[in-house]
Amino acid sequence: MKTLQEYLIASHAPEDLGKIIMLIADQAGPIRSAFISNQNYAGSTNSSGEDQAEMDTWADARITSVLQESGLVRAVASEEQEDIVQMSPSAKYSVVMDPLDGSSLIKVNLSVGTIVGIYEGDVLQAGNQLRAAFYMLYGPMTTLTISLGNGVSIFAMNKDGTYILLKENVRIPEGTLCGSGGLRPEWTEKHIRYMNEIECEGGKNRYSGSFVADFHQILEYGGVYAYPATKKSASGKLRLVFEINPIGFLAAQAGGAVSNGESSTLDIVPTKVHQRTPVYVGSKGMIAKIEAIR
Ligand code: AHG
Ligand code: MN
Ligand code: MN
Repeated sequence: MKTLQEYLIASHAPEDLGKIIMLIADQAGPIRSAFISNQNYAGSTNSSGEDQAEMDTWADARITSVLQESGLVRAVASEEQEDIVQMSPSAKYSVVMDPLDGSSLIKVNLSVGTIVGIYEGDVLQAGNQLRAAFYMLYGPMTTLTISLGNGVSIFAMNKDGTYILLKENVRIPEGTLCGSGGLRPEWTEKHIRYMNEIECEGGKNRYSGSFVADFHQILEYGGVYAYPATKKSASGKLRLVFEINPIGFLAAQAGGAVSNGESSTLDIVPTKVHQRTPVYVGSKGMIAKIEAIR
């Protein structure tokens, strides 16, 4: 049974990159344990104006301090922090993260996760420059889905806290699951046409409100997750740097695609750390379909 550590060695991951991945991966245990005593909202808002859950700030503080102490990280950009946190200037890698994705589902015990991307150099780079991307999903199992730019593998944590390989060379099939955020009355004409087309072709609606969990089912079964441009927000809701780039990178590595509805979001060089973009991510055919609608 291959462990995550063995996979990193076999994939020739540079030493510091491997250490950073393991340090963050090892926070899944403490994060899971913290859910029970952090069930409420923190009473604060983040840079996107959203109410922070206690777990948002807990997970953010935990991962940030572990990375700071490691001396291995140049900078961290987190969904829960206004500005980029500068750490060790001579370090090679920078980390982008959504410490707790899907936080409105904490109270109802549905699956949530942690999304991470790692760049060489600074944080504001196009997603196609990622050196590694992964997410931990806190479901019935704790799983870690990772790519170092050479395909996608999924690990599951055993009772000793070791990640064991579940699946390698993961490929997104051309499936029919679909889930879209945004209120229906605020959808654009283009998005309405798209969703109608998919549903008429047998698309099955599955949307939980946790990007990481919703994407994970698309990765396995195929289909599309969308958070579109709406009449109220031309740039949608999800954040390019912490959410869309790492997940989009994983989708592309699994033979799928990610788009803002017109072209790949992986080519966008971010100018602001909290910038948003509409997103469609999943099976290649599903993404081609939205890009074909004018
Ligand atoms: P976060 O919990 O990190 O703020 O992310 C929430 C995101 C994403 O996980 C999810 O798909 C989407 O927002 C849900 O938004 P709606 O409640 O508007 O559906
Ligand atoms: Mn999120
Ligand atoms: Mn979050």
